[in-house]
Amino acid sequence: LSVVALISGGGSNLQALIDAQAAGLPIRIVAVISNRADAPGLDRARHHGIPAEILSHRDYPDRETYDADLQRLIDRHDPGLVVLAGFMRILTPEFVNHYRGRMFNIHPSLLPKFRGLHTHQRALDADETEHGASVHFVTAELDGGPIILQARVPVLPEDDAATLAARVLEQEHRIYPAAVGWFAEGRLKLGEDGRPWLDGEP
Ligand code: GRF
Repeated sequence: LSVVALISGGGSNLQALIDAQAAGLPIRIVAVISNRADAPGLDRARHHGIPAEILSHRDYPDRETYDADLQRLIDRHDPGLVVLAGFMRILTPEFVNHYRGRMFNIHPSLLPKFRGLHTHQRALDADETEHGASVHFVTAELDGGPIILQARVPVLPEDDAATLAARVLEQEHRIYPAAVGWFAEGRLKLGEDGRPWLDGEP
């Protein structure tokens, strides 16, 4: 399965997918695209000989024209799956619909709780005893697509946003390759009814 990964920052989820590919996950990351030229994740791609491309949103007047060029750039690689891995941009419905059923995102909360930003601090402020991460199909609703796989972690009394984020991130690196692997094996798809369809036992 050919995969294009979109990043904006550190790329630790990208690294998890690169490592999983090296360990035999039936994927080939054919390109990494970042909206920020200074994203450290670009060096992770370069280090593994993966084409690292930059499409800076600063060069565009609006979201529509940016997304249209981003789509052209992605489609040059003809991926079977697009993964958002710390990609910090809101995508237009047209762009999202073009990749319906073949675009994943990972979000650091137990969706539908805590959509949006600063999820760890918000979980602490809400006195949650559990928190976690979610892999979901991307739809036009921000952080709202059908959930594929989640991981739960305990919130400990001594936690702050940083310690909680680290515990969640560790799980992200586990569930993202798992979900991508199911898709690569043809076991997972987005049903016509908008619900994920997984054959056999996870
Ligand atoms: C992670 O919390 C991830 O859930 C969110 O972006 C953060 C950084 O991800 N999508 P990465 O280290 O850049 O993969």
